[in-house]
Amino acid sequence: MEDQFGKFPAVVVPNPDERELPLDDFISKVQEHKAWIHDKLARNGALLLRGFPVKDAADFDQVIKALDYKILHDHFGSQDRKHVKGSVYTANDDLPLEIPIGFHNEITYMPVIPDVLVFYCEVAPPQGCGGATGIVRGDDVYEDLSKKFPSFLQDLEDKGAIYCFTVPASEQPKYGSNMNGYKRKQLENGLVKLYLGPCPAIKQLPSGKKAWFNAIGSSYVRDSSEPYVEFGDETAMPTDAIKAACEIMQEKQFAVQWEQGDVLMLENSHVLHSRHSTSKLEPTRKILVSMLKY
Ligand SMILES: [Fe+2]
Repeated sequence: MEDQFGKFPAVVVPNPDERELPLDDFISKVQEHKAWIHDKLARNGALLLRGFPVKDAADFDQVIKALDYKILHDHFGSQDRKHVKGSVYTANDDLPLEIPIGFHNEITYMPVIPDVLVFYCEVAPPQGCGGATGIVRGDDVYEDLSKKFPSFLQDLEDKGAIYCFTVPASEQPKYGSNMNGYKRKQLENGLVKLYLGPCPAIKQLPSGKKAWFNAIGSSYVRDSSEPYVEFGDETAMPTDAIKAACEIMQEKQFAVQWEQGDVLMLENSHVLHSRHSTSKLEPTRKILVSMLKY
């Protein structure tokens, strides 16, 4: 395996003599190099394996098992995921592909937060029709935002964030009622409004740097009709600072233009991801995911 770039994300492609590698040989190589892969991911935050013989969800599940992390099977939060195979789930089934999803670390509002996300491209979106996955490092976002909004970042670190969801009462148990500060309000029509948090929204990384670590970017895009996210003390967040954070994430992102068979590993505490909208829905874009703990 060849490490093609020293950039973000790190990209690993087959050596010229590995282009027709059988899956079993690739899986053996992943097992053999797993410590190198873990280290590369920890240093870079994101690692893209491209051009290897990962043909479907069953192959992807074998890659995940070879990586030897602990596999998460529940506590998936607000997203409607379907189980596909072994460690493999659909990435998001509840939002149509033409709707973009803003930048977020995965389920930071849940009691169990995955350390590593691994996405797999089973069907790539048609070329030129969007559907990329944006990725950006949280420490870069923090550093840029701290130039203009240092007190907002300090408030966010001190108070955390509360996220608000409106869900059918039947879905409430999947959020885990044991969360700190968990509140709920019964609405009409069998709906329940859940307030999850306060949740950590700034992360201290092993490097010593601080990182933007939250779902404020995706909350801001999704719902403008009412506050979807607020400080942990239930006060409003400044709109100008949130807008600035979203702009920084848009500017600094790397857009992964999917190719069939791509395996993208992200360190969830370090890197945020987003979904670009897809303008042409046939053939559709299909991204699968495994969520892992160290
Ligand atoms: Fe996500």
